[in-house]
Amino acid sequence: MSISLKGRSLLTLKDYTREEIEYLLDLAFKLKGKKKKKVKGNLLDGKNIVLLFEKTSTRTRCAFEVAAHDEGGNVTFLTNSQMGKKESLEDTAKVLGRFYDGIEFRGFKQETVEDLAKYSGIPVWNGLTDLYHPTQFLADAMTLFENVKKDNNDIKLTYVGDARNNVSNSLLIGCAKLGINFAAVSPKSLSPNEDLVKEMTKEAKKNGSSVLITDDIDRGVKDSDAIYTDIWVSMGEEDKFEERINLLKSYQVNKEMLEKTGNENVIFLHCLPSFHDLNTSIGLDIYNKYGLREMEVTDEVFRSNHSKVFDEAENRMHTIKAIMCATIGE
Ligand code: CP
Ligand code: NVA
Repeated sequence: MSISLKGRSLLTLKDYTREEIEYLLDLAFKLKGKKKKKVKGNLLDGKNIVLLFEKTSTRTRCAFEVAAHDEGGNVTFLTNSQMGKKESLEDTAKVLGRFYDGIEFRGFKQETVEDLAKYSGIPVWNGLTDLYHPTQFLADAMTLFENVKKDNNDIKLTYVGDARNNVSNSLLIGCAKLGINFAAVSPKSLSPNEDLVKEMTKEAKKNGSSVLITDDIDRGVKDSDAIYTDIWVSMGEEDKFEERINLLKSYQVNKEMLEKTGNENVIFLHCLPSFHDLNTSIGLDIYNKYGLREMEVTDEVFRSNHSKVFDEAENRMHTIKAIMCATIGE
């Protein structure tokens, strides 16, 4: 069956089939190979792309910019548009649809990215909302497959931490679609949305894998091939540090947790940015208030041979390039 994603948006991985996700990953591996051989591309020649950001970013913005340039596309970075202030989302989307071939949106509400797609008439890519971070999952899966050489149904990826956030939701969906066993380990109050878990448990079953939601660290991490975590407080929730520290202190990814997997080849993944030392202003502020030198992961694990976080960050670029080329490329 030949797959074409031309003209499609990527708002959530729920909208994509297993074959479509595999197609994107396959293309990302090819584009990574091409980049390593320093072959200049032209798949996005003459394409104009707008990057609309309501929240801060390093990787996502840079990945879109570099990926577009590598394939001959042009980008506009927009953080101070009229949208929602002097002009409705609908009107802004219609204008952008006249200028551009694709829109990347990072912001607060999932509804915004969906409405942009509805009104602009061009492909829209979700660069993170409160609910999902689908482009992140593609880089996570690419990194997982580079390091864990097993059939999908024999791989176990375990997410530890705030398991109802955007990154965890996209991992749950992506793993279920690809038939990768997924576990979410968190205190009960931070466990994923029950409806999403039900829906994805069915999806996982169809694809030969399982979903485990637990607050029991030993049970959750046992036999994992990858341990994944994210910051405890996502963008837009900055008033929640104290509450999250109290809830998640005992869920910190550290050497003992990696040992509990029983897998000496276990890899560590993190979407980044990460609070693993005192070299950030927020990290230092937290240290001064609560005495914590590291939060979701210890510096030891972050810098260990288990950690593939910088490969994962690089893979954001290759996978985002694949999404743009597949949906608007020549
Ligand atoms: N992982 C990720 O989305 O990073 P940025 O917030 O830097 O874009
Ligand atoms: N959950 C994090 C992911 C950052 C890439 C956030 O939303 O801030």
